[in-house]
Amino acid sequence: MCGIVGYVGDRKKTVGVLLDGLTRLEYRGYDSSGIALMDDGRPRVFKSTGKLENLKKKIAKHPLEGLLGIGHTRWATHGDSTEKNAHPHVSAGTSVVHNGIIENYSELKEELIRKGFKFYSDTDTEVLAHLIESCCGGDLSFEDGVREAFRRVEGSYAVAVISDRAPDKVIATRRFSPLIVATGDHENYLASDVPAILPYCRNVIFLEDGDVAVLDKNSVTITDIDGGPVKRDVQTINWDPVSVEKCGYRHFMIKEIHEQPQAVLDTMRGRFSEETGEIFFEGFEGSPYKDINRIMALACGTSYHASLIGKYMIETIARVPVQVEIASEFRYRNPILDKQTLAIAVSQSGETADTSEALHEARAGGAKTLSITNVLMSKIARDAERVIYTHAGPEIGVASTKAFTTQLLVFYLLSVYLGRVKKQIDREKAAELIRDAIRLPQLMQMTLRLDDEIKDLAKEFFHYRNFLYLGRGISYPVAFEGALKLKEVSYIHAEGYAAGEMKHGPIALIDDEMPVVLIAPNDGITYRKILGNLQEVRARRGKIIFLTSDTTPEELRGSVDRVIEIPACNYLLSPLISVIPLQLLAYHIAVLKGTDVDQPRNLAKVVTVE
Ligand code: F6R
Repeated sequence: MCGIVGYVGDRKKTVGVLLDGLTRLEYRGYDSSGIALMDDGRPRVFKSTGKLENLKKKIAKHPLEGLLGIGHTRWATHGDSTEKNAHPHVSAGTSVVHNGIIENYSELKEELIRKGFKFYSDTDTEVLAHLIESCCGGDLSFEDGVREAFRRVEGSYAVAVISDRAPDKVIATRRFSPLIVATGDHENYLASDVPAILPYCRNVIFLEDGDVAVLDKNSVTITDIDGGPVKRDVQTINWDPVSVEKCGYRHFMIKEIHEQPQAVLDTMRGRFSEETGEIFFEGFEGSPYKDINRIMALACGTSYHASLIGKYMIETIARVPVQVEIASEFRYRNPILDKQTLAIAVSQSGETADTSEALHEARAGGAKTLSITNVLMSKIARDAERVIYTHAGPEIGVASTKAFTTQLLVFYLLSVYLGRVKKQIDREKAAELIRDAIRLPQLMQMTLRLDDEIKDLAKEFFHYRNFLYLGRGISYPVAFEGALKLKEVSYIHAEGYAAGEMKHGPIALIDDEMPVVLIAPNDGITYRKILGNLQEVRARRGKIIFLTSDTTPEELRGSVDRVIEIPACNYLLSPLISVIPLQLLAYHIAVLKGTDVDQPRNLAKVVTVE
């Protein structure tokens, strides 16, 4: 949670770069924001509560320049969303922005109060500003003072500091929270994530835990916490800057829904041979998983739903048993692990604290570890022994859409890979499964043509206060995902259920005020059964939205309120298609309700608290 930026270079650019960077990081938190600028050797701080827009308006009243500066967009943890709790926090001439949680802040605070420092906020971050100031007295240089301070700090942090003690420098350090440095021509940048700097430069250094970076206009020096030199590679990022723009769409969510065919194509590119049925994943040389006899998928939220679908794929194709675990629960139940277990951490952001902790637990228990993530060099990507990246591009809308479908594709390709390794499928079958995947972008494109139809549907249904989503087999996790999308962006109460479970309780909820979305691609396996569930809902006057790939649903037309026809495809890939109308429905209902679609209340894109 929280996004930080820093810049040193052209004094006329500083304010623009900081505000622009924060705009691109607003998905990380959006309840207050602030910047600090260094001009004429003196720091100046501006803060505002609420959306970044408020800070921009405030700053527009004061034409500002500064050789360097830092900025922050906040998702509150310690202290509510007031201006006094917004970052930067200040001690004398030192200003600090921070993403993370300082675990020993109470002890440090008491000590600093005894030394005479005065606290004005309820945050843990203010401790850092005073601690740095207290360490900088005497003979220590500012940089050494910062290192000295962070030797005493426990917890997670990505921090940027500026001070009148070194008015031409931005100093940054990290532990467990992400931070990148980007290098330009006589200017250098700092940010929590790549999108913030994408319009300005492509050369990026991913800082590692314990790194301390000192940026001035012409150089970046990285050391460890004791001042020892550290060498980090510069990586070139090839994301297109338009990927972080709305490009004419009203919201990032709808843009990202429409980007799914491309995202899936990018994720499959170069990863298989249609002729030989082979799957290629970087780092998989030497068949590292030929001896595994069990898989545990660890994930939260939408990534958890993707994992539930991944279970169907892997168990069907590779016949390896898969357990799917809610990451926040995994470490509290003493899980049984061994070296024949493969633990797969699934996370769009690669930063989710619950998933990261679950991954550590799995590793400590002796399991082999793999991550599926969308963010290059993210914590979860680095902490697992191997990583498969989804190539969805930056996902800015808080509600996950294209990350979900690309995770599903990776699970599918992994299933084919394991199917071959475990000798469950032959070359021809693998090639056939690959051919099914190749058709996906086109099928997704066809499904996206339902956009207008679903917009109409939303008009009919947006005033309902509850929704039920039902699915069977591989579609039941899709029901979970459809319900999650609706609740997070429209604030309508929605539940996802395995359709067969309905008669064991939820059926009591059904009346004419309850729309029921039935997800029923004609899979030849569970379809007939779900038609039975449909009649159960009908008999109780529930409103039915029927999502099917059946081309002859005429017999049903009298029994359902609306039919959404989706293209037919391989059963195991059907969730990549059937989820699209559900994403669109959630989106259009949210727009009609006037909610903040890309930044729904109380949420943050990256959840780094447990
Ligand atoms: C829902 C959503 C969340 C995330 C969850 C895990 O739309 O985005 O439920 O899926 O917070 O996030 P990652 O995948 O980044 O670990």
